[in-house]
Amino acid sequence: MSDFVRIVEVGPRDGLQNEPAMVATADKIELVDRLSATGLRSIEATSFVSPKWVPQLADAAEVMAGIQRRPGVAYPVLVPNEQGYERARAAGADEVAVFTAASEAFNRRNTNASIDESIERFAPVLARARQDGVRVRGYVSTVLGCPYQGAVPLADVVRVARRLHDLGCYEVSLGDTIGVGTPRQARDMLLAVAAEVPMAALAVHFHDTWGQAVANVAACVEAGVRVADSAVAGTGGCPYAKGASGNVASEDLVYMLHGMGIDTGIELEALADTGRWLAAKLGRATGSKVGRALAAA
Ligand code: HMG
Ligand code: MG
Repeated sequence: MSDFVRIVEVGPRDGLQNEPAMVATADKIELVDRLSATGLRSIEATSFVSPKWVPQLADAAEVMAGIQRRPGVAYPVLVPNEQGYERARAAGADEVAVFTAASEAFNRRNTNASIDESIERFAPVLARARQDGVRVRGYVSTVLGCPYQGAVPLADVVRVARRLHDLGCYEVSLGDTIGVGTPRQARDMLLAVAAEVPMAALAVHFHDTWGQAVANVAACVEAGVRVADSAVAGTGGCPYAKGASGNVASEDLVYMLHGMGIDTGIELEALADTGRWLAAKLGRATGSKVGRALAAA
């Protein structure tokens, strides 16, 4: 098994979509550029959802126009539908991410559609992306619990993940949107999906609401996954998921993985500096324990 884990940095998208205050476009651009210099290979740069639904990321096109793209780094952007795909392409995106959920109740709150309807909306995105040579990542939310529905049957997670993979998503990210899962549940969920979708096409995406996120990633890496999403400074959350809090902090993940003897290609100090820089812009301390420990050392 490979001893490399690819981290998908989602701070500029998942992190900033949930900030109560507007972050200046220039700061968003600087954030992506700083992250690009840390050795990250994938940085989700912004989101082309409806600006009425997520006003925090209404400047997505300006962000894409301002960032410096490094060779070897992918800059996926979130899109919910064909309109989002067209905006993303006009802004120069060459990788996109589509999203749905394993819970009907959550998906309706987040996209005003059933799971089937949301997939119908982005099916044309996958078709056009194939023609355009654009890579598509897929997200399944609420894989370990839903704030509206409660428990989410494993069979629903497996079915939706498999559909996204069958539709042509090169990678399916399994999201514990509200951060309620614990390591054994996380591992069992991953292994159930991996029985239908190749492990090499799976990623995990943990929020840290109940303090389980780092442990959950460890359990999933031990079970074989080699891609994990995280957000610098532990920012993030979905505005349409009641009680959701930050993503697992990228700094904490990198420290843990390096400690496990797993390479990420990322320079921890540079990442932690970026996390503290971002936290200062947001007017608070970094949400990364490793970022704080490094500053105090
Ligand atoms: P709707 O209101 O049902 O859509 O929203 P509509 O098609 O009826 O359109 C309504 C208006 O929005 C129209 O404008 C459209 O043009 C416009 P109007 O005629 O009223 O002036 N519109 C758009 N504008 C710009 N870009 C677009 C776009 N689409 C429509 N792409 C919709 C449906 C899906 C658009 C909406 O519900 C939406 O944008 N939802 C996104 C919510 C969101 O971003 N949530 C957070 C991301 S998901 C997440 O965080 C979870 C994740 O991190 C994984 C995890 O943690 O589990 C990925
Ligand atoms: Mg998320």
